[in-house]
Amino acid sequence: MNIKNFVVVCVCSVLVVTSSQTFADEPLALQGQEVFRLCEACHSVEPGVHIFGPTLHGVYARRAGTQEGYSYSQALANSGIDWNESYLHRWLASDSKNLVPGTRMQWRTQLSEEQLQALIAYLKTLQD
Ligand code: HEC
Repeated sequence: MNIKNFVVVCVCSVLVVTSSQTFADEPLALQGQEVFRLCEACHSVEPGVHIFGPTLHGVYARRAGTQEGYSYSQALANSGIDWNESYLHRWLASDSKNLVPGTRMQWRTQLSEEQLQALIAYLKTLQD
């Protein structure tokens, strides 16, 4: 190997190591962005933009039913849920009505555990 190639190899390995350390969670969130296509018909991720469902911008760690300008069901508005990983998992893992009877979100799609983890990782990134 001549010296020029050696330098290129060194620089590349430094880049790979640095990026995998800095963005350790990113691949999972990117995978989750793909899964989110299933939600896009009803949810935007833009602040203040509601479709059939409320925007999911800033949903993580927020009290359920509190996006401004969206008219929630009484059931969700009064649920007292703060959206953490465990509640999001329960909301999305099976029928959303199991967690909040009377909610207007009908979600019965069976996602794999891997899809759920990725989706939740993505939802966590939707902050300011
Ligand atoms: C058919 C439309 C529809 C689809 C598809 C849908 N949702 Fe919803 N979602 C809603 C509606 C409507 C509400 C508000 C429910 C209420 O007021 O009871 C909601 C509420 C929510 C909430 C609570 C928001 C808050 O501000 O408390 C979360 C979180 C959520 N959806 C996540 C998702 C995710 C993630 C997906 C995709 C896996 C998804 N939803 C798919 C219609 C949908």
